[in-house]
Amino acid sequence: MSAIPGPRAPRPRLGIVGGGQLARMTAESADALGVDVAVLAQPGDDATRGQVTDRTVVERLGPAVLQAFARCCDVVTFDHEKVRPGDVAALERAGHVVRPGLVAFTMAADKSVQRRRLDALGLPVPEFLVTDDAGAARRFAEAHGGRAVVKAARGGYDGRGVVRADRPSAAAAAAATMLRRRGTEVVVEPWLAIERELAVLVARRPGGQLVTYPVVETRQDETAICREVVAPAAIDARTAEDARRLAADVAAAVDAVGILAVELFVVDGTVVVNELAARPHNTGHLTIEACATSQFANHVRGVLDLPLGPTDLVVPAAAMANVIARGTTDPAAVDVERLVGPGGDPVVVHGYGKQARPGRKIGHVTALATDRDAARRRAVAVARGIEAATRPPAPAPAPGPAPTPAALAS
Ligand SMILES: Nc1ncnc2c1ncn2[C@@H]1O[C@H](COP(=O)(O)OP(=O)(O)O)[C@@H](O)[C@H]1O
Ligand SMILES: [Mg+2]
Repeated sequence: MSAIPGPRAPRPRLGIVGGGQLARMTAESADALGVDVAVLAQPGDDATRGQVTDRTVVERLGPAVLQAFARCCDVVTFDHEKVRPGDVAALERAGHVVRPGLVAFTMAADKSVQRRRLDALGLPVPEFLVTDDAGAARRFAEAHGGRAVVKAARGGYDGRGVVRADRPSAAAAAAATMLRRRGTEVVVEPWLAIERELAVLVARRPGGQLVTYPVVETRQDETAICREVVAPAAIDARTAEDARRLAADVAAAVDAVGILAVELFVVDGTVVVNELAARPHNTGHLTIEACATSQFANHVRGVLDLPLGPTDLVVPAAAMANVIARGTTDPAAVDVERLVGPGGDPVVVHGYGKQARPGRKIGHVTALATDRDAARRRAVAVARGIEAATRPPAPAPAPGPAPTPAALAS
């Protein structure tokens, strides 16, 4: 473990717990705003390696380490939800400024707390059941046409921890596995016919001032991981207005500070809240190039209680595609010029400096254009080209004829 950062600098120092790409991009914005950043990373958090000077690496994010880190920072914020809510509460009790605070953090960290609370607040959410009983998950699926979506309450992200079960026994099995592995409750929902998935980012200051970003549309792949985000969403003005108002209501209700990402489903023409993240979010990466103020800049502004910047789109349309490694080859040598082609609208490639591993998100591509389909096509083409360069493992050679017992004996 390297040393906890030294005494406070004269510039405000923002402490980020977690050293992934969100911390990396937040640090870039903080620097531009004259704010120092200290990162408390864990060994696998390579996106901030060599990027953030004030970086401490610890094996475990235990309470003593968090307290020592917080003492060296003016404000503490997070790039993930892996800290125990009890430890966040202890930081607050010790007088540290933690943003988001305990309520928003706990909700974002636990899908069961989140669903119950949003429902209790009267905010629209899909029908759901919170349970620690796999049999109840089976019965829920039986009562909903035999299908259900089962979600681990804690520890899931990017579709890990979400299982779409196409029969009651699969729902029960998924619930049993999650309950055994993670020791928490599960959230069970009907397998919805989702018309669109939307997201709205809200940036909010401690006193309640807030701004909402234009509604974006997200697309997930068959493993439920976000692949593409397009702005503005192809929805009518009323739906957009409803979505932004709903997100602002959620942010106020959970006392969010900094960025709150509100994932929404459109089901039967109605907007409902799927889930929340109380930090910068993958659905907001395109704000770096496409909006007047990026989500990272407004996160820094919100948590430091500085005036928030405008959120308007500065281009007619933008799209972001995630780069998910297929193999372990470093894609740095990809000829992006060739993928992008000559001339045309801007395409920006963001690499996170992460070691490529199959299934790992190692970067994203943002394309700006005059229409959303053109932006989407270009972002996706470049992202897929980079993914291909990470090279999947070669397919196993076709099996030859089975050896005879005599051959095995020789
Ligand atoms: N009830 C549901 N019905 C159908 N698809 C769902 C449902 N819930 C989630 N999904 C799909 O799975 C994705 C991931 O689920 P989500 O709850 O957002 O978990 P994560 O924390 O992994 O993002 C969603 O974006 C959506 O595509
Ligand atoms: Mg999600």
